[in-house]
Amino acid sequence: MLWLVLSVVLLSSGCFAQSDDEEAAQIWVDQYNQDVQGVYFDYVSADWTYNTNITDHNSQLANEKAAESAAFDNQKAIEANNWDWPNFQNESLKREFSKIADMGYAALSDEDFNNMTKLNSNMTTIYSTATVCNKPGDTNGTCYPLDPDLEEVMSSSRDWDELVWAWEGWRNESGRKMPDTYEQFAELLNKAAVINGYADNGEYWRSWYESADFRQICENLWLELKPLYQQLHAYVRSKLRDIYSGHTFPGTGHIPAHILGNMWAQSWLALEQEMRPYPNKTGLDVTDELIKQGYNNTGLFLLAEDFFVSLGMDPMVDNFWENSMIEKPTDGREVVCHASAWDFYNGIDFRIKQCTRVNTEWLITTHHEMGHIEYFMEYKHQPVQFRDGANPGFHEAIGDVIALSVSTPNHMESIGLLPEGADDPEVDMNFLMSEALKKIAFIPFGYLIDQWRWDLFGEEFDRNNYNGAWWDVRCRYQGISPPVTRSASGDFDAGAKYHVPANTPYIRYFVSYVLQYQFHKAMCDAANYVGPYHRCDVYKSNEAGDLLRAMMETGASRPWPEILEQMTGSRNMTAQPLIDYFQPLMDWLIEENADETLGWDETGCPVGSIVP
Ligand SMILES: *[C@@H]1O[C@H](CO)[C@@H](O)[C@H](O)[C@H]1NC(C)=O
Ligand SMILES: *[C@@H]1O[C@H](CO)[C@@H](O)[C@H](O)[C@H]1NC(C)=O
Ligand SMILES: *[C@@H]1O[C@H](CO)[C@@H](O)[C@H](O)[C@H]1NC(C)=O
Ligand SMILES: *[C@@H]1O[C@H](CO)[C@@H](O)[C@H](O)[C@H]1NC(C)=O
Ligand SMILES: *[C@@H]1O[C@H](CO)[C@@H](O)[C@H](O)[C@H]1NC(C)=O
Ligand SMILES: *[C@@H]1O[C@H](CO)[C@@H](O)[C@H](O)[C@H]1NC(C)=O
Ligand SMILES: *[C@@H]1O[C@H](CO)[C@@H](O)[C@H](O)[C@H]1NC(C)=O
Ligand SMILES: *[C@@H]1O[C@H](CO)[C@@H](O)[C@H](O)[C@H]1NC(C)=O
Ligand SMILES: *[C@@H]1O[C@H](CO)[C@@H](O)[C@H](O)[C@H]1NC(C)=O
Ligand SMILES: [Zn+2]
Repeated sequence: MLWLVLSVVLLSSGCFAQSDDEEAAQIWVDQYNQDVQGVYFDYVSADWTYNTNITDHNSQLANEKAAESAAFDNQKAIEANNWDWPNFQNESLKREFSKIADMGYAALSDEDFNNMTKLNSNMTTIYSTATVCNKPGDTNGTCYPLDPDLEEVMSSSRDWDELVWAWEGWRNESGRKMPDTYEQFAELLNKAAVINGYADNGEYWRSWYESADFRQICENLWLELKPLYQQLHAYVRSKLRDIYSGHTFPGTGHIPAHILGNMWAQSWLALEQEMRPYPNKTGLDVTDELIKQGYNNTGLFLLAEDFFVSLGMDPMVDNFWENSMIEKPTDGREVVCHASAWDFYNGIDFRIKQCTRVNTEWLITTHHEMGHIEYFMEYKHQPVQFRDGANPGFHEAIGDVIALSVSTPNHMESIGLLPEGADDPEVDMNFLMSEALKKIAFIPFGYLIDQWRWDLFGEEFDRNNYNGAWWDVRCRYQGISPPVTRSASGDFDAGAKYHVPANTPYIRYFVSYVLQYQFHKAMCDAANYVGPYHRCDVYKSNEAGDLLRAMMETGASRPWPEILEQMTGSRNMTAQPLIDYFQPLMDWLIEENADETLGWDETGCPVGSIVP
């Protein structure tokens, strides 16, 4: 995901006379909307070039364009404050002005801004070009990048030592090279936040959710979902103890972080086969079938597009197919492989950049990224400041909500990726387990990254404990532990996760995992679906499509609770639809876990695993 994020801040009005002439303000803002598109287009284009061809030269060009764009934002914020916009009668105009008046990082001096972008590209470059050598057993000196090699090891290897090599090696080569840079970087982010009237950058990021008690809202959602996670955790831990019976697990109940099938233990889907409730019934991993049927990367994109179009939404435009980067280049170029969707702000240029591979996870990721593109296309008629998600979590939820339908056994059967016979309660349970390994496993991870960053920005801990504090939340929320000793200050494992060096806020994913089940329920209801929601597939339902489109075309033009209410009937985020969706699996897990001790020691990591 990537799009320019701007938000609401009420700058104090200054002591000069301000105009309340809304007609003149309208004329000014129309001109602004014409001008800003070109400025953002230039910046996004340069950033695209850097992301698809990492060189010092391209990094420098992108940073120059970022500075030009920031200077423009800064100037327009000052001009906007020539109006007494907080007292405008027209709510929409007032909202647009409030967003233009929010300078964000453009509030920094030129020198600080340039420092900030340089520190940022230093970290993304390290992350995107890191490789790990000395694989156990290799004698030829090959070094392996994260994408695809290390990710492939993490998902398919069941060799403890090989997994430790990939897990530790990746952290050695990425995160560990960043903590001092990150410290300086965080200082500059905070500096901008303070200029804008926030206590720190964490408060600034949270302000995008336009809810005074946002932190508490998240905590409450987590507490609602924790019992589900604990059940899944206990079940998976017990299976993993069998699989790795020659290795000792911590007595504290934590699961070693490197055996969950993913570099960050954020999705456990790679363990689907081993975790299947009914191993002799069809599983939901369609990778082999995709390969057997000769799918290529384009084929995955066409499948995703077909679903959106079936709901009455727009197909991808020619520009999209011509300019997107849908596989890792083979011409030796370094690229940022991390998947993202791009809005170029000219209403015709939208792109995805990802290093696709043909497997189940990429099928879902492709839907996720295309959901961003559909959102961009639906709100392209809005003023630039409203071309955004109702809140950042909405943007992350679109593709995922489509994937909830696509993943159902019935849908997979209808597109020929699962054999007939999917209509079976045991297949259903296998399906719910595979969904839980993606979704429920992710919940604490989605929550903890910004717990840690918010606290870092709030100076709840300092540079000497960056990594100690990181492991506090990893052990506490996820119930996982490091497979090898970590240093509280020397390692920087947060930096081994893309969104930290790339400076992408993360709570949006947690929010989207809650919202997408609210959306799914609303769309299934609109399609007149009757039955358990985990079996609902809204393919070809114009009613479901209309509901989703009405939400998307509104962009960020109104506060999100209004937009949520229009779509779901509720102004609040609630975990209930998610809980209901997984209820049959929970009932099954509770029985299965009868002899297990649920949970783990939540006071910290196993003794000795974190050293100064
Ligand atoms: C990558 O960027 C460099 C400039 O830094 C340029 O010389 C080169 O041609 C670019 N490569 C591709 C494939 O565009
Ligand atoms: C309020 O402003 C918006 C956008 O600036 C404009 O489209 C709309 O017509 C205005 N509404 C009224 C009632 O003037
Ligand atoms: C900005 O960069 C300069 C030179 O690289 C450095 O000396 C200075 O400390 C940096 N400022 C901040 C606030 O990080
Ligand atoms: C990042 O910055 C560090 C410290 O200034 C420097 O040693 C390193 O070469 C830089 N890396 C990249 C990829 O720019
Ligand atoms: C290096 O050796 C490994 C096996 O040890 C092999 O899989 C790989 O293909 C070799 N790479 C090269 C470049 O020869
Ligand atoms: C990571 O770095 C540590 C400390 O230098 C070293 O002991 C360890 O072998 C490295 N691990 C890998 C997999 O490279
Ligand atoms: C699955 O099938 C195997 C042999 O085909 C059998 O031994 C096993 O008991 C079956 N497991 C279950 C859970 O039905
Ligand atoms: C990829 O698959 C599509 C059909 O899904 C086909 O039209 C296209 O030629 C294939 N591309 C390549 C490079 O094989
Ligand atoms: C909705 O959220 C608000 C603010 O967090 C809370 O006061 C209210 O009780 C919630 N309403 C319902 C129905 O949960
Ligand atoms: Zn995304």
